[in-house]
Amino acid sequence: MASFSIKNVKYNAYLLTKKSTIEITDRTYLISFQEDLEFSPGQFCMVNVDGAGLTRKPFTLGRIEGTVAISVKIAGKGSEYIVKTSERLNVLAPLGNAFVPENRNGAVVVAPSCLAEGLHLSEHFKIPLFVASKSALSREITSQFELNTVVGNDGYLRLLEELNNSRFDWIFVSGSRIMEELAVRNMPNKLVYVSLNEYMACGIGACKGCAVETMNGIKHACTDGPVFRGDEIWARH
Ligand code: FES
Repeated sequence: MASFSIKNVKYNAYLLTKKSTIEITDRTYLISFQEDLEFSPGQFCMVNVDGAGLTRKPFTLGRIEGTVAISVKIAGKGSEYIVKTSERLNVLAPLGNAFVPENRNGAVVVAPSCLAEGLHLSEHFKIPLFVASKSALSREITSQFELNTVVGNDGYLRLLEELNNSRFDWIFVSGSRIMEELAVRNMPNKLVYVSLNEYMACGIGACKGCAVETMNGIKHACTDGPVFRGDEIWARH
C-alpha cells in the first residue's frame, strides 16, 4: 500500500483482488474484495481503468458482511472492464468526508449502483435500507440479502411519500442526480442527505470538475462532500 497527499487530501493506493461478483440487476453488479481497507461511511474510492485505456472511475465504498465492496453499473468501457476483469484492481481510497449524522433515527435509500454503500450504512448505523430500482433485482442478490425494494418511478415516488410521513428524522439518498433531486423535493418534512457521486472526476481535489453550486456558494463534491444536505443543493418551495 502506498500513501499520497495532494492539497491536504490524503489517500492510499491499494491493489484489490476480487472475492465475488454478484449481479444486482440489469448491468449492475456488487463486487467484494479479499483485502481490507480503512474507510468511514459515506467515503468513496477511485478505481484505475488503465486496462480499458480510460481515466479512474469513482465508486462509493461499502461493506458486505465485513468485506470491502463496491457496486458498479456498466455504463461504458471503464465500468465494463471493472466488472469483467480478473486482474487485481488499483484503487485510491479512502476519499471524501465521512458521513456523520446527528442521530441514528434515519433511513437509507439507494439505487442498485450504490447498494454496497447502502448495505454498509444500514449495518453501521442500524437503520433500514430501501433499494429503488428501475427493474426487478436478480435472484442472485435477493437470495443473499433481504432487501426492501421498490421498482420503477411510481414505486419510488410512493416510497418518498411514505418516508416523508415516517418517524425518521433524516433520509440518506445515494443514486443518480435525478433520484436525489426527486428525494429532496418530495420529502419536505425531512432532512435529506444526498451523496453527489455523479459529479466526480479526478476525486482528489485536483481538477475542480466537481464544482457544485450550493446555497452556501461553490463547493467541490470530492473534497467538501460527497455527502451534502439536500436543501443546500436544491431549493424547496
Ligand atoms: S473531482 Fe476533481 S476536484 Fe473534485
